Amino acid sequence: MKIICRCQDVTEEEIIAALRQGATTIDEIRRLVRAGMGSCQGRTCRRLVSQIISRELKTPGSEIYPPTFRPPNRPVSFSLINAELDGHNDNEDDGGKK
Ligand code: FES
Repeated sequence: MKIICRCQDVTEEEIIAALRQGATTIDEIRRLVRAGMGSCQGRTCRRLVSQIISRELKTPGSEIYPPTFRPPNRPVSFSLINAELDGHNDNEDDGGKK
């Protein structure tokens, strides 16, 4: 059992099973087995999933439809947000007094 997506614990066998169900793209694999939906948003596993699709479907990697990308979401502390707002308010409070 070879783990391909570490974030979601998806194995190579699960990806191959999804391909046998009819998946042909990285996005379809993602929807079926959640590979690429972890905290790294597929940055670690996307290439491996693409290689498995290429090997199993005997398709050149250049012909595999690229996945949709979303920026990773990370928690942000309120102190950081407040610092940004404080900086913003300081600029507004100047009101041309300088
Ligand atoms: S390793 Fe697959 S989403 Fe992170």
